[in-house]
Amino acid sequence: MIDFAACSRGRTSDVKDSALTVGERSEFTPDEVDLWLVPSLDCPAGLQGALGQTLSGDESDRAARFHFAQDRNRFIAARSILREILSFYLNCCPAEVCFAYQPNGKPHLRFQPLLNKDLRFNLSHSGEVAMYAISRGREIGVDVELSRLNISWAELAGSFFATGEVAALHRLSAKDRMRGFFNCWTRKEAYVKARGEGLSIPLDAFEVSLAPTDPPALCRVSDPKELERWSLWDLGLTGDLAGALVVEGKPSRFRLFSWSWADSSQSGTAAVRLCPGVNNCHVRHLFGAIGGVPITAPLHTPG
Ligand SMILES: CC(C)(COP(=O)(O)OP(=O)(O)OC[C@H]1O[C@@H](n2cnc3c(N)ncnc32)[C@H](O)[C@@H]1OP(=O)(O)O)[C@@H](O)C(=O)NCCC(=O)NCCS
Repeated sequence: MIDFAACSRGRTSDVKDSALTVGERSEFTPDEVDLWLVPSLDCPAGLQGALGQTLSGDESDRAARFHFAQDRNRFIAARSILREILSFYLNCCPAEVCFAYQPNGKPHLRFQPLLNKDLRFNLSHSGEVAMYAISRGREIGVDVELSRLNISWAELAGSFFATGEVAALHRLSAKDRMRGFFNCWTRKEAYVKARGEGLSIPLDAFEVSLAPTDPPALCRVSDPKELERWSLWDLGLTGDLAGALVVEGKPSRFRLFSWSWADSSQSGTAAVRLCPGVNNCHVRHLFGAIGGVPITAPLHTPG
């Protein structure tokens, strides 16, 4: 399990601060998936100006269309961080990362400088939280949701979930129901996002498991080959954050990094110059397990 609340505070025994290394880039294999958790997209005011500098013209235009400053700033932060993260794998400048979009809006890399690593990615944000998932040669979809306790779960489930899912939700105890609801929501979204087809896939046309005691699984899809094609993972987030990941095939290794903005008042943590435009952020390696697959230590840590 990943103690999200502790990660946000930067205080958990499962956290290790260290700089990313070249080895962590070059040894990122098709068997593994990297996850980057950003507990807060709200960057310190002093960094706000520098943040948008790596964005492309169309991203800046999109940012300008947000009505509320908070939404605009979070979008800018989410895209800037995406560029920073991808530039680490591609060994290029964040501004050189070039996106193209599938017909239903899924972003992908237009071209990959230097090596053909067939890097794939997906991201999700909910409120101030963001999660990025990176893979090589495997389609991938991720979804995180901050659970809001005052939602009308029965109404939403009735509108979006498949009949079997609604029934499964009603069978849960009141204590488990909210978790079950968000398990279902994030798993369905992650699957739809992995396929990249957005809401052109009717959400009630397939089923996922949802009970907290059941293993995460894609249970029913119209094309049975789909069940073989994907693996579905619960990200094991605690607190009020739920998250799911859907990956083509079955990765055998996860690495999880947590991104937080540099805080000059913190000493003793590694300030990583991962992001030239933004100056400093902190990157933490988190350890734990996702679906029984251990989150492994990075291959190389600085001495
Ligand atoms: C766009 C959609 C793919 C995800 O939307 P979402 O869950 O609201 O948002 P998330 O934060 O998880 O994901 C958004 C990110 O996914 C990526 N994305 C956009 N379209 C995508 C697509 N077709 N496939 C995969 N990823 C996509 C983008 O990077 C986007 O962020 P950005 O534009 O800021 O870079 C789509 O599934 C949707 O609109 N869902 C509506 C949610 C809903 O009604 N759910 C009902 C309960 S199950």
